[in-house]
Amino acid sequence: RTVYVNGQYLPEQEASVSVFDRGFLFADGVYEVTSVLGGKLIDFAGHARRLQRSLGELEMRSPVEEDELLEIHRELVRLNEIEDGLVYLQVTRGAPADRDFAYPPEDTEPTIVLFTQSKPGLAESPAAKTGIKVVTIPDARWARRDIKTVQLLYASMGKMMAKKAGVDDAWMVEEGQITEGTSNNAYIVKDGKIITRELSTDILHGITRAAVLRMAQEAQMQVEERGFTPEEAKEADEAFVTSASTFVMPVVEIDGTPLGDGTPGPIAKRLREIYLEESR
Ligand code: PDD
Repeated sequence: RTVYVNGQYLPEQEASVSVFDRGFLFADGVYEVTSVLGGKLIDFAGHARRLQRSLGELEMRSPVEEDELLEIHRELVRLNEIEDGLVYLQVTRGAPADRDFAYPPEDTEPTIVLFTQSKPGLAESPAAKTGIKVVTIPDARWARRDIKTVQLLYASMGKMMAKKAGVDDAWMVEEGQITEGTSNNAYIVKDGKIITRELSTDILHGITRAAVLRMAQEAQMQVEERGFTPEEAKEADEAFVTSASTFVMPVVEIDGTPLGDGTPGPIAKRLREIYLEESR
């Protein structure tokens, strides 16, 4: 693979980052994941905008302008011959001379790394046909989930809790309500109405979420942005999650309780079709 590090395109074996990088020592960094379908970047502008917001919230300098960022994404897709897959982008507060909790001097260069992941047939994933199963777990993350930081250990632990429970993913619960999935936004559907938690610092403001809700409204579907409990979710007609890597993914079981007839629901299936058709 060819990767991008601080202005250079390099074979992955030759790319490196300092031991003192604050991304490595403090998880002091932000990231974005943009999907590629048929060689085309999906929702790039949304991801670029959210990156700027994450950087701003952490008072971190942007290493590149948006047009240059787009150019780097396109160049990596080209160099790695990505038809379907993902582009991962990470910006950290750089590598100061020594480990120190305080932010380093303003002139410390941020570290920027991008790489691609080839995923042939990403949009035709078998999981989309069967749907996925989730378990609920407590949400033990920090309180600023609206910032897309690389501090992903709890998401990783959540994924392992799901695996140990024999299912695909976990939905996190705080004060009795679902916040989101480990790496996706969560939705239920009841009597034709799509319900998903409102935006706040409690969840990541998904780029796919914004697109899917807009498309749902354009298709005259009803949308309600509010929190919901695991109990309400288990009594829902259907459920799904959204993210840049899964698009719209039906959820067919929560904590062992099948939803409806235990197969992907019509609204989730329709939204997936609409999203893939309109984004490509
Ligand atoms: N995750 N919520 C969380 C906690 C996430 O990590 C993500 C994305 C989302 C969905 O956001 P978007 O629609 O912008 O991808 C919601 C990415 C895909 C990841 O970490 O790989």
